[in-house]
Amino acid sequence: MPASPKNTKTFDPLTPPLHRFVDRLTLMGNYTDEVLNEMERRAARERFPIVGPVVGTLLMQITAWLKPVRVMELGSGFGYSAYWIARALPEGAELMLTDQNPENLQLAEYYLDRGGFPVAFQFYRGDALEVLEKQPMESLDLVFLDLDKARYPEALDLALPRLRSGGALLADNVLLRGRVLALPEEDDPEDVRAMRAFLETVYTHPRCITTLFPVRDGVSLTLIQ
Ligand SMILES: C[S@@+](CC[C@H](N)C(=O)[O-])C[C@H]1O[C@@H](n2cnc3c(N)ncnc32)[C@H](O)[C@@H]1O
Repeated sequence: MPASPKNTKTFDPLTPPLHRFVDRLTLMGNYTDEVLNEMERRAARERFPIVGPVVGTLLMQITAWLKPVRVMELGSGFGYSAYWIARALPEGAELMLTDQNPENLQLAEYYLDRGGFPVAFQFYRGDALEVLEKQPMESLDLVFLDLDKARYPEALDLALPRLRSGGALLADNVLLRGRVLALPEEDDPEDVRAMRAFLETVYTHPRCITTLFPVRDGVSLTLIQ
């Protein structure tokens, strides 16, 4: 019997033509700038996973609407997604970047500095969850998850009480290239089980109202009540 494709890396039930269409429109919008283009070239060269311009635009839009003052990103890489968020932050806002790789954060500092944003950036090297745990209750306006996918449920548990009512939680890669769509089985990989648990919680928790945007690899947006 052929192996089930449901949890293999190559299985992609999403629709490439739709993605190409949205990518093309976003490129027509030309919302990027020189620094972002440079970061995109680095990501392509080094095969580093960044959110890309479609999700970047969504992050910028949500930030512009919410006007968050305290923002935390879990899994910042070299600062591409943070740069999109920073572009829409109000003056004096605080954006905390976290990454377990210090070299990534050094680059993030370099790129964000070039953006000249009137924002206080903080760079935390190490486990993002430890940094999140230290944040006071109800002190965050916006949290963006893009760390190790198996840790999304843990990140959610810590983030929820630390987000204020009216705040938002965004999470990237919630479709795991479609691997979350199949019916659950006992031997599902850890990231698939974790992502399903994460999504079930953000859709059912009494403080959460969620929409899953099927752009790129899926982004969930949760309003915290
Ligand atoms: C997908 S990349 C982030 C990309 C970035 N958000 C962007 O779009 O520009 C994921 C990053 O999370 C970091 N990471 C994974 N697990 C982490 C953890 N527990 N704590 C801190 N950083 C973590 C990795 O080092 C990696 O740089």
